Amino acid sequence: MNAGIVGLGRYIPEQIVTNFDLEKRMDTTDEWIRTRTGIEERRFAGDDVNTSDMAYEAAKDAIHDAGIRADQIGLILVATVTPDKPFPSVSTMIQERLEATHAAAMDISAACAGFMYGVITAKQFVESGTYPYVLVVGVEKLSKITNFEDRNTAVLFGDGAGAAVIGHVSEGRGILSFELGADGSGGKHLYQEGPYLEMNGREVFKFAVRQMGESAENVITKAGLSKDEVDFLVPHQANIRIMESSRQRLGLPEEKMSKTINQFGNTSAASIPISLKEEVLNGKISDDDVIVMVGFGGGLTWGAIAMRWGK
Ligand code: COA
Repeated sequence: MNAGIVGLGRYIPEQIVTNFDLEKRMDTTDEWIRTRTGIEERRFAGDDVNTSDMAYEAAKDAIHDAGIRADQIGLILVATVTPDKPFPSVSTMIQERLEATHAAAMDISAACAGFMYGVITAKQFVESGTYPYVLVVGVEKLSKITNFEDRNTAVLFGDGAGAAVIGHVSEGRGILSFELGADGSGGKHLYQEGPYLEMNGREVFKFAVRQMGESAENVITKAGLSKDEVDFLVPHQANIRIMESSRQRLGLPEEKMSKTINQFGNTSAASIPISLKEEVLNGKISDDDVIVMVGFGGGLTWGAIAMRWGK
């Protein structure tokens, strides 16, 4: 019994903040941000939209897309580092609103790799026959922990949510292999201290370039595939230069990598499901395509999945 993605959803806040808007708020330029990161604009959720509101909207979209009822879900996993409050968890908040009355619920703290951790955890429960469906949400309201006095970090992040329903899929489809990892010794390079996110960009960059490429290659090998059998790469959208290095390592042409960073910036745990949905809607990912997803983040943490698309 293979587990795979049977429904996808997302929520993108309305407010667009361009690089030119940021030029007015801090000592930066559109040119610097575009060339160093690939970001052109990002979305910020308004004061009246909390993390759980975005998670709820994305989850509703994914459940609808899966064609199931919320009360068929056995577990809700929400990956976030920006919950509404320390507790109760965002997952319990949306469990109530979705009326997912049979679902257990917990949040996952694995920063930008959180969606990868969530999907792999979900896979275990689905393939063991414990739950028919697990809902995984990656959601972040990073604008509330961004220090707009710090141009090194303030230009990078955005808000949003993505969600997937994990369930059984036909033989040969679904998750083929995965890798999860952590290196706590790198925790000092990306963390929240007091109200704000702090980052040593150069160290995170070096780690990300190495880890993204390595993990992507590892899951391809574990799945018994070769690089030329990969149809599409969906990397965590943190920096276009990091993403490009993974793409080149896999020998994929430009059009075979998801690129939503220009529109949404780095939405942390939400970036991979938001991008997946974008590519499915655009018809770039179709049934039986082999896709590789790979993410990294604070912790340090990382995760990658090779999957054959389709129910
Ligand atoms: N606008 C203009 N200049 C900026 C700037 C901004 N927003 N941010 C930094 N700079 C300046 C720096 O002050 C520095 O100036 P200096 O040389 O006079 O000191 C210069 O640009 C170069 O800084 P540097 O840090 O070397 O730039 P970089 O090319 O490494 O790019 C990041 C910085 C943050 C874009 C890059 O390191 C990065 O993407 N790291 C990974 C971050 C990441 O992925 N985080 C999320 C993990 S999930």
